[in-house]
Amino acid sequence: MDKTVQLQNKIAEAALGGGEARIASQHKKGKLTARERLQLLLDEGSFEELDMLVANRNRGLTAEQEQFLGDGVVTGYGTIHGRLVYVFSQDFTVYGGSLSEPHARKICKVMDLAMQNGAPMIGLNDSGGARIQEGVVSLGGYADIFYRNTRASGVIPQISAVMGPCAGGAVYSPAITDFILMVEQTSYMFVTGPNVVKTVTHEEVTAEELGGAQTHATKSGVTHFACNNEVECIQYIKRLLSYVPQNCEEDAPVYPYEPADENREALNSIIPEHPNQPYDMKEVIAQITDTDSFFEVHQGFAENIIVGFALIGGRSIGIVANQPAHLAGVLDIHASVKGARFTRFCDAFNIPLLVLVDVPGFLPGTDQEWNAIITNGAKLLYALSEATVPKITVTTRKAYGGAYCVMNSKHIGADLNFAFPQAEIAVMGPKGAVEIIFKREIDAAADPEARMNELVADYTERFANPYLAAEKGYIDEVIMPDQTRIKLMKGFKMLENKVVNMPRKKHGNIPL
Ligand code: HXC
Repeated sequence: MDKTVQLQNKIAEAALGGGEARIASQHKKGKLTARERLQLLLDEGSFEELDMLVANRNRGLTAEQEQFLGDGVVTGYGTIHGRLVYVFSQDFTVYGGSLSEPHARKICKVMDLAMQNGAPMIGLNDSGGARIQEGVVSLGGYADIFYRNTRASGVIPQISAVMGPCAGGAVYSPAITDFILMVEQTSYMFVTGPNVVKTVTHEEVTAEELGGAQTHATKSGVTHFACNNEVECIQYIKRLLSYVPQNCEEDAPVYPYEPADENREALNSIIPEHPNQPYDMKEVIAQITDTDSFFEVHQGFAENIIVGFALIGGRSIGIVANQPAHLAGVLDIHASVKGARFTRFCDAFNIPLLVLVDVPGFLPGTDQEWNAIITNGAKLLYALSEATVPKITVTTRKAYGGAYCVMNSKHIGADLNFAFPQAEIAVMGPKGAVEIIFKREIDAAADPEARMNELVADYTERFANPYLAAEKGYIDEVIMPDQTRIKLMKGFKMLENKVVNMPRKKHGNIPL
């Protein structure tokens, strides 16, 4: 056979993966193939495939195993919006995308290249798990990948899209990466599937309920994004990358920005008159960030805290914000962990942090205490304390108790602390404080309720304001809300070259 024809034949064979029938079956499930996904993800014509001709070993449990070129995963590099990325995309049409030793080696090869060349690693997962025919070598392959995920953590951004099954130990590669995206109805993640669950705990649960996109986006927080379909999932990956640098040595891309009138009149009327009335912190975010630039992460999980990326004057920032419209913006276990993980991503990748504070405190109760709000709340405190990127805080309303300290207070290293005139910065809210300090006096009063109201009014007047904190320098400036965007633009610019020398250590010991 002509040698060039032979090559063309091999390329055509590899491109077909598990063959026409299995591709049709993949489409019937509402799923794209591994190559179609890469085509959508990468800039046109930019994909360079590696290891296309790697084949599975023709041995194992069954005597006659079909051989497929590529062995169930497409790997290589390309660009997204002109920036280099490394990719793998599991091919469900070949042995259900299951992971064999050669399949794992292909993934490890691109991961090593991504690390050495300082560019993001994107994995599109669609796999039945360990290649059953291979036995222990496929387990070794998984561990090789987990090890690389861990080494790459904080060096290059790692993104995992789960676009089909992801079960058993296979879940741990996405879990170590920075962001997980799942697709509604066609993807699931669990350590043990519904059948095992039924045998062990007698619970009847579907795969979707146990580990579908909605479950992980709202209940467990395992996934950061639940996407309506695969196309949306791929769009999200591209948008996510637009806010982050290529690696930990670089800064995020800066986008052109035309200076304009940065006064935001609407902010003057956003904070309600009554301190217990909710408002939507996302409206504040929309006012202070560049138009339509806010990209929320973990939207459906622990909604009492908001995290996400945005641009201010064309520059990428990470936002961590209490959400008074949900549970009054209280800090609980999930909110603390969500905020901490996002903070650490931003810090690892040189993305400045903006913290918006309206927090009544930590959530009380046995559920929270017994499930370790102490340890989990400490994660957020630790993450914000250790972050060395530029850090600016705006207290829009309440900052009470321990939550004041945790939410990027001056004391834990915030560079600039602003407060709105409506801010209330104190050890606790007026009612709680008065009940403790004046208990005897209130009990002895002829009209205890009237006396209490008087004392609460007096406490509110004297302590529920930003001025005591400003007198101490804990707040750098009490600002008119409409000035916030201007202050932030100038502040982040002023902090552009911030350098912090950390004490020598191997690594810290965040309370896990
Ligand atoms: C080899 C596999 C496979 C596997 C699926 N296939 N999983 N081949 N090893 N793990 C093959 C099937 O034989 C079939 O081949 C094709 O992939 C498609 O599978 P179907 O079952 O027809 O597809 P579907 O109905 O969509 O079901 C998908 C599935 C199911 C839910 C993933 O195939 C399944 O339950 N597979 C086994 C999952 C599993 O137990 N994996 C091991 C888990 S332990 P043909 O030739 O018909 O196309 C594990 C440990 C990891 O992963 C530990 C890491 C530390």
